[in-house]
Amino acid sequence: MARRPLIAANWKMHKTQQEAKTFVASFLPKIAAVRDRDVLICPPAPLIFAVDQARKDSPILLGAQNMYFEEKGAFTGEVSPGMLKDLHCEFVILGHSERRWVFGETDELINKKVQAAIKAGLIPILCVGEKLEEREKNLTEQVILNQMDLGVKGVADTVIGTMVIAYEPVWAIGTGRNASAKDAHDAIALIREFIHSRYGSSSAEKIRILYGGSVKPENMATYMKEEGIDGGLVGGASLDPESFAKLVTY
Ligand code: PGA
Repeated sequence: MARRPLIAANWKMHKTQQEAKTFVASFLPKIAAVRDRDVLICPPAPLIFAVDQARKDSPILLGAQNMYFEEKGAFTGEVSPGMLKDLHCEFVILGHSERRWVFGETDELINKKVQAAIKAGLIPILCVGEKLEEREKNLTEQVILNQMDLGVKGVADTVIGTMVIAYEPVWAIGTGRNASAKDAHDAIALIREFIHSRYGSSSAEKIRILYGGSVKPENMATYMKEEGIDGGLVGGASLDPESFAKLVTY
């Protein structure tokens, strides 16, 4: 079974509503011929509505960059899974390294979010990846497996295959220093092997695993040639419609 590639834009904390609308208007005609892959935009929460309006009747998928795991309550500043569903989000990025290392999110918290997202009918994009000092100490595999183990705890074998995992080495994010295609391939093979041993072959065959970290129009095709890499999670190079369209049409 061939997995459908997924190219996801993570806009992080960028753009106004007007800029978001202008992006979509310029981006859509550039990807009009694309049929065989999924294209996802994850804007900051205040821009989700604007992107949803602008993408109407287009194949663009919509996602959020984060959420809280509770459905409602006294959680000032937070956004619930139900609110994202209500805004027509289909995906949510969880455990992004900026959430882990700037905002102190733990694997336990991320796992609660993963479970809450699934319960609400959102597809989690769980991000995992090692820091530079961990790579230098040869801890890459251990770190990835530990984040996977804790991140997918309690996820049923009937739904794991619908999830998305993004391997994003922390040292490659926003640095211009992208992982080699071989390193990305090896990490992604390790993640798929983990899913295989825990959930069996059909889940391992089905789950989409992306690479993220300084993905650019110039290096996207190199990753997509690797067996097992199902797409990209793109930060900086997704902010400009020209550049993101080039990435999507790699
Ligand atoms: P980058 O970010 O493409 O700017 O490196 C990727 C990410 O953080 O998802």
